[in-house]
Amino acid sequence: MIKKTITYDFNNTISDQIKGPSGISLEEIESYGKKVTEINNTLISKRETGGLPFYELPYRKDELDDLKTTWDSVKEEMKDNIENVIVIGIGGSSLGGVALIKALTHPFYNLLPESLRSTPRIFFAENIDPDEIKGLFDILDPEKTIINIISKSGNTAEPMANFLLFQKFMVEKIGEENFKKQVIATTDAEKGTMRQIADELGIRTLKIPEGVGGRFSALSPVGLFPAYMAGIDIDVLLEGAALMDKVCKNEDLFKNPAYMNAVIHYHLHVRKGVNMAVLMPYSMALSEISVWYRQLLAESLGKKYSMNGEIVYAGQTPVKAVGAIDQHSQIQLYREGPDDKIITILSVENFRNFLNLPALYSSFEGVSYLGGHTLNELFDAEKKATILALVKSGKPNIEITLPEINPHTVGQLFYMYEVQTVFAGYLYNVNSLDQPGVEAGKNYAYGMLGREGYADMKEEVDNFPERDTRFIIE
Ligand code: PA5
Repeated sequence: MIKKTITYDFNNTISDQIKGPSGISLEEIESYGKKVTEINNTLISKRETGGLPFYELPYRKDELDDLKTTWDSVKEEMKDNIENVIVIGIGGSSLGGVALIKALTHPFYNLLPESLRSTPRIFFAENIDPDEIKGLFDILDPEKTIINIISKSGNTAEPMANFLLFQKFMVEKIGEENFKKQVIATTDAEKGTMRQIADELGIRTLKIPEGVGGRFSALSPVGLFPAYMAGIDIDVLLEGAALMDKVCKNEDLFKNPAYMNAVIHYHLHVRKGVNMAVLMPYSMALSEISVWYRQLLAESLGKKYSMNGEIVYAGQTPVKAVGAIDQHSQIQLYREGPDDKIITILSVENFRNFLNLPALYSSFEGVSYLGGHTLNELFDAEKKATILALVKSGKPNIEITLPEINPHTVGQLFYMYEVQTVFAGYLYNVNSLDQPGVEAGKNYAYGMLGREGYADMKEEVDNFPERDTRFIIE
């Protein structure tokens, strides 16, 4: 396994390369020097006083040991007869785990025959789509299924509804006592409804460290436990994150990829109207990282109010893309559309596999040129061609390269983006750690379903004006 650092290349944001309105001059970047020092000092003191606990996740050995022994005890009790794990959670309680498993297991992990997979299949029950949930019931044997319910609050309607359904499904087939042995709740150490339920049931639990918010919890038991159950080396993952922590301590913007990425995105957004941030991995394994990143950026920086209470409507819109697929879907817009996007390409130097393209159809020039090359070469050429095309169109882009996709490099990437996001919060002067906009939606839904204490929300919904039929086309 290569344990080198990922590289961050921002050449193609600099005005020497990017001719047109979205190029940034070196002077513009350097003008942030004082601000960077100021934010860096704030982050150091917040961290020292325990205000940013997600920063410490790579070092929390107790929780790491706890989740490992928990899994060992489940396996022992089940006599290793575990075919499936259902991870129930949503948003920050699922996206990190989904991204880690997609990045660090076989691309068709759940479909591998048991002879090639020593760990259980992992399914994520994220949504509350009745067809999907029933679909899971159709393929699961409750006797061989483990449930990992993840909810910091235990109040979120989606995971709790799915939990109720899975409890019924399991209890009907295996009985209450066995069900209890087959559930692990990842939740707050003391507070919240899930903690109360877990205590009442007497089931195994894992703690989400105090003060670690959903979208910053990928490197806590929230993301680590599903990853561990899928056989991912979580020690190395955290080693990678710890390495990035060292790098991100550097006050020099030119040596700190998290700070530089925040400055570039912020500057392009606020000074040049670049209001979209695209993350486009040239790798299927990294494709779910874009979904995790979308939440991290959107919920952290998308804020109406500044930290001083002024209305600011902050935030760039994060966009998910994947190369080479989106070359045939999005690149037309990215190249020739408005100057409102910065595109980050995630590159992989060494894939796990190397596929030679067979030299067939020699008489068909449209295909024969591929013969003798590798699929890896084609992927790389397409990525380079996209970068070049973006530069020629004056569209700023960044390339982040992973020497290979492994727990170490993925740990680095997760940590880098988390630090970048909190740092960017200070550039925008918004609280990157709260999510009042999410809470409002949750509360309306509680009201509509008659939850106690939310009657005023129901009233608001009930009093919402009737739909005007003139504006409905049937
Ligand atoms: O990042 C966040 O805070 C949210 O996305 C939450 O993770 C999400 O709403 C789920 O909340 P909970 O873990 O309390 O069920």
